[in-house]
Amino acid sequence: MIESIQLDKNSNKHLYIQLYRQIKGLIEGKAIKEHQKLPPIRRFSKVLEVNNVTVVNAYNLLEEEGLIYKKVGSGTFVSPFYKPEREGMGLDSEVYIDEDTKFSSKGKEEEINFATAAPTPDLFPIDPFKRLLNRVLDRDGGYAFGYQKSQGYLPLRESISNYIQGFGINVGPEEVQIVSGAQQGIDILAKTFLDYGDTVFVEKPTYPGAISVFKSRKAKIYELPIYGNGIDMELLEDKLKKEKPKFLYLMPNFQNPTGYSYSKEKKERLLEWANKYDLLIIEDDCLSDLNYGKEEASSLKSLDREGRVIYIKSFSKIFMPGLRLAFLIIPPRYYNDILLSKYMSDIFTDGLVQRVLDLYFREEVWEEQLKKLKMTYQGRYEEMISSLRTYMPKGVNFIEPKGGLNIWLNFPDNISIEKIYQKALAKRVNTAVGGLFYSGSSEDNKLRLTIAAVDKEDIRRGIKILAGVIKEEIGKEEGYKWDPSSMPLV
Ligand SMILES: Cc1ncc(COP(=O)(O)O)c(C=O)c1O
Repeated sequence: MIESIQLDKNSNKHLYIQLYRQIKGLIEGKAIKEHQKLPPIRRFSKVLEVNNVTVVNAYNLLEEEGLIYKKVGSGTFVSPFYKPEREGMGLDSEVYIDEDTKFSSKGKEEEINFATAAPTPDLFPIDPFKRLLNRVLDRDGGYAFGYQKSQGYLPLRESISNYIQGFGINVGPEEVQIVSGAQQGIDILAKTFLDYGDTVFVEKPTYPGAISVFKSRKAKIYELPIYGNGIDMELLEDKLKKEKPKFLYLMPNFQNPTGYSYSKEKKERLLEWANKYDLLIIEDDCLSDLNYGKEEASSLKSLDREGRVIYIKSFSKIFMPGLRLAFLIIPPRYYNDILLSKYMSDIFTDGLVQRVLDLYFREEVWEEQLKKLKMTYQGRYEEMISSLRTYMPKGVNFIEPKGGLNIWLNFPDNISIEKIYQKALAKRVNTAVGGLFYSGSSEDNKLRLTIAAVDKEDIRRGIKILAGVIKEEIGKEEGYKWDPSSMPLV
């Protein structure tokens, strides 16, 4: 099996994606059989002449799709439960329902999963959904199943326009475009704006689902380092003076993967420069509703007076990812082009779920749902911060995001993240290695922890285990002495 795999180092596709796809092809084509063992990471990476992280990341994606499973102490094996017709997209969307989920919760009984950003089904508001779904069916009958308008169900667009006024975004329903998930939103915008060889600016690191889309359009991606208060503005201005990107894609609040948020001052400066340099900004806002701090998590869109920002908001993290619901807010000059791209993608978004979501807003069930979810996540977040402070050794730094789902750990340069990842995994603690979130060369001393799928008890237990592994690794570095009384820099 190894012999048939060939990675193209000159391709602009990540090596781990190439590897993941080829192994997936072999599994689906039955070239490797159920329960067959996959090569150990170290040996495989040697044969392929790639970094170990490439194999780790490929195996992670395969595992997230249910294609393979890991057995502690024995290795990695092809899963017998995989059904190609349920194919998922890997990366950050990794919850499967029915048999797949039953299997994964059985198969990973003890796993503490800090890697996935997908909320677990116990957080989904099933009872109100059932009630409102029946209301829609009684009210609209077959109309809910007919062809819908490509822009989206008008009452829902009205509800959204009312709802977001509460966040300082004053737009009418005509500026709202419903899409089937934020991922589709990004894809539609890429389809609308990007031609071969166009340049896109992104944050470094950023959401890998966006990188994949931009690469699929053969765009040139330029990464701007992000710090605790936003991207490097000097570098941005310098680049803008020399080059005109088609757009800048960013997440101003509780960014994925870092959890960082832009300062108000940077948000304002961004908009100033957008006007000055005729720059289009795509603002991806998954998580601003999960604000646990005192500072306002204002969107760029709410500050945008000149129509420079296209805003994307997903309902996946704050409602249910399986519904595939998100919306865009689009300045009028782009309406028609984006509508055409949406039409070409899937004509319209499911009419039934749009109607149910509309009733969530109209019957004020939405506020209630969000309040509950936020309370749960805030509890987990506080547990996570307190556990990190208690258990992490000196040298492991993080900035407290005060919102969202992600925490980005920075390690000393000489520490092997891959070893930490592997050792923690062997102890049933899963994490996301930083390398996943870069388009070009990655910084190898980062780890993303996510609180979407772990309860408070697991968080404390998992962080204690992870910290133990890290201490072991740090302790091995020559001359390093771990001081148990030390606190991490926060
Ligand atoms: C920043 C960001 N944008 C978009 C998406 C995709 O969201 P959706 O499920 O709405 O397609 C994700 C998913 O994790 C994300 O983290």
